[in-house]
Amino acid sequence: MTKAPEIDGERLLARLDAFAGIGATAGGGVNRQTLTRGDREARALLTALAKARGFSVFQDDMANLFIRMEGRDSGLPPLLIGSHLDSQPSGGRFDGALGTLTAFEVLESLADAGFQPERSVEVVAWTNEEGCRYAPGCMGSRAFVDGAIPAEWADLLAGDDGARFDDERLATIEALAPEVGHRPLGFPVSAYLELHIEQGPSLESEQIPIGIVTGVQGTRWLEVRFEGQTAHAGTTALQYRRDPLKALTTALSGLYATVMPDDADARFTVGRLAVTPGSVNAIPATASCTVDLRHPEVEILDQLETAIRDMFEDAAKAAATELSIRKTLEMSPVRFSEAAVEALHTAASTIGFETKAMISGAFHDALFLSQHAPSVMIFVPCRDGLSHNEAEFVEPEDCIAGAQMFMAAVTELLTKPGIA
Ligand code: GLV
Ligand code: MN
Ligand code: MN
Repeated sequence: MTKAPEIDGERLLARLDAFAGIGATAGGGVNRQTLTRGDREARALLTALAKARGFSVFQDDMANLFIRMEGRDSGLPPLLIGSHLDSQPSGGRFDGALGTLTAFEVLESLADAGFQPERSVEVVAWTNEEGCRYAPGCMGSRAFVDGAIPAEWADLLAGDDGARFDDERLATIEALAPEVGHRPLGFPVSAYLELHIEQGPSLESEQIPIGIVTGVQGTRWLEVRFEGQTAHAGTTALQYRRDPLKALTTALSGLYATVMPDDADARFTVGRLAVTPGSVNAIPATASCTVDLRHPEVEILDQLETAIRDMFEDAAKAAATELSIRKTLEMSPVRFSEAAVEALHTAASTIGFETKAMISGAFHDALFLSQHAPSVMIFVPCRDGLSHNEAEFVEPEDCIAGAQMFMAAVTELLTKPGIA
């Protein structure tokens, strides 16, 4: 006898607590950056939980981790569900973990109910969604979709400890290899579904429990570096200075005054700033920053990027400094599959949840998966819209409602014509 699969909310909340303990920070958040010891510990815990339930576990060459519940017809491409386990340096306990653990909860609930779908269902935890230890973000899903790992990633170095990307990738794979099987990159899937916290305020302020995400805005990352001449702070008169920090700050004040004030949909962020040699009484030799630029329309993103580059170049010339700009990430805006979005609307009305259709301001692995299979996302509200912050919080009832919606969506995607 089988019963209708039902989410075990208490089990999901307990799992969230257990994973929040891995890489826990004093401020109540997590620091579980990609391919670090904490990330490996989280992968090992998920693997142990999966094996205890009799699911098979695999990883591919990008260390993307897959947990498979076998369908009645094991030859059909699986339905893929999941998110990521890596975090920001001072990240919250829900960003990524909620989506991964909700997907795992759905797998367990299906098994609890003795329900075996026709096609297999697989949970995935993608490698390096965040992009803060190694840029770009979404490395795991990008390599999966492209079927190859770009050669230039091998020698990337982590900013804090200098660890080489390929060494960390291979050590992470190695750590789980005795326990899990191997998978090729880019195997066919029927569809991809991801749940995530909204990371913005609209669901909470409108008191709507579920967001149906219809697409993701575009993102560009730049690494900007001005090079001048270090010299004595006390003796070097203005006309002899080639001060890279003056150039950088002049450009930034112009950009802060224009990019976002002139376009309510634009997002401009400088999250990392460095000067060398960093001495109180020496003019800097170099000044560098990162730029994170986002917009829902690709043409406007192009125009903004050009305007930003021009502003940096003008400031470099005025201060007699050299400028170099390296693009480390480019993600064009995407629209998710209409059939998959429609499946989510059907699922929500089946279980009677109010929903809001929305575009994601954050990027997600679903952006890349949408090039590979019909993909779609579910958002749940988070307190004060706060994320990439240790105080990030999702009410327990919102976690559970999200998981119920996720189960309904999985059921719908498993049978939807054009997807199933
Ligand atoms: C994801 O973490 C993003 O920066 O949008
Ligand atoms: Mn995330
Ligand atoms: Mn994030």
